[in-house]
Amino acid sequence: MKKQNIVGYGLGERVPILADLIQENTNFKLIGFVDDLGSNIRFKKDEYKVIGKSKDLKKIFKKYSKNIFLGFAGIKNTSRFRSSYKKFKKIGFKFPNLIHKKSFVSKSATLGDAVQICARVIVNPKAVIGNNVILNAGCVIEHDCIIEDNVQIGSGAVLGGFVTVKKNSFIGLGTRVINGITIGEKSIIGAGSVVINRFPKNSIVAGIPAKKIKSK
Ligand SMILES: CC(C)(COP(=O)(O)OP(=O)(O)OC[C@H]1O[C@@H](n2cnc3c(N)ncnc32)[C@H](O)[C@@H]1OP(=O)(O)O)[C@@H](O)C(=O)NCCC(=O)NCCS
Repeated sequence: MKKQNIVGYGLGERVPILADLIQENTNFKLIGFVDDLGSNIRFKKDEYKVIGKSKDLKKIFKKYSKNIFLGFAGIKNTSRFRSSYKKFKKIGFKFPNLIHKKSFVSKSATLGDAVQICARVIVNPKAVIGNNVILNAGCVIEHDCIIEDNVQIGSGAVLGGFVTVKKNSFIGLGTRVINGITIGEKSIIGAGSVVINRFPKNSIVAGIPAKKIKSK
């Protein structure tokens, strides 16, 4: 089957993971990156081809690729991550789900679009994953979880059954969230935390058990 073209927007730290994921695990051909911030200084010269800036995206859509993904996210400030998804959808871009072959997604789980699923992720039955969601390496989304739009789950995090993570939240590396907990929107859960209580929106919590560490 002929590979479809895809472009990345933003040269964030996630780019090597995503380039690898796309090239080794999907039927897309990565033709290059659109970058406004000159963030390619973090990579070797020419390691990732830059094909334009976001002002060129309409032309890129017409000429090169109908598919796009975001090559960055952010933890404390995710406004660009959220707005780029909306803006590029309006141009007409598709945000295909990028799913590593060595992950498991139950047939009864539901995925939105622009879902990035890295190696060794498990998405168990009846989990519902929204749009523009990042599931980093080795995280476990147990049965019946609801992960809303623009959420990022850190590597190795484990969410017990029936956990809900409201939109625009970030769950740090290796965090555990016990069954049935709801995490309010735009919250940040620090790396390695154990969450045993509900938290309202805009919470920044960390530790074992997780407690508020600062206000937004
Ligand atoms: C939660 C987090 C965002 C807070 O960052 P910050 O706003 O810069 O916070 P600070 O470093 O100023 O820490 C504030 C306080 O919280 C504590 N704290 C911060 N992160 C913590 C954590 N993960 N666990 C326990 N305590 C933590 C600090 O020790 C500090 O305590 P103090 O006031 O008693 O000195 C950050 O520490 C974190 O955990 N980031 C997640 C990283 C990650 O998972 N990346 C994965 C990408 S896939």
